[in-house]
Amino acid sequence: MPKVTYVQQDGTETVLDLPPGTTVMRGAVAAGVRGIVAECGGNLMCATCHVYAAEAALFPEPTADEDELLDCTAEPRRDDSRLSCRLTLTDLTRDLSIHVPGAQT
Ligand code: FES
Repeated sequence: MPKVTYVQQDGTETVLDLPPGTTVMRGAVAAGVRGIVAECGGNLMCATCHVYAAEAALFPEPTADEDELLDCTAEPRRDDSRLSCRLTLTDLTRDLSIHVPGAQT
């Protein structure tokens, strides 16, 4: 089961063992990880699930819709920016470190 470490701006970490099939966003929201708002519930309409994912290359490239929304994030877009509702864990996903931006709105 992949272990996902959510790292806040102040360095606080929340480590979750998440089952394959869930997303980085759903795992965070279910556990009450602060800073991942996910206003649209994973429907690719809000960009409030923005994260910095160092291992972003392990996931499929962003779709055109995700790429467009990543231009609307509250915190600056970086090369490792992703929408966490698009990061679905699989059996092959290794442990991840996810950095939560300082703001989502
Ligand atoms: S939860 Fe709204 S775009 Fe990801």
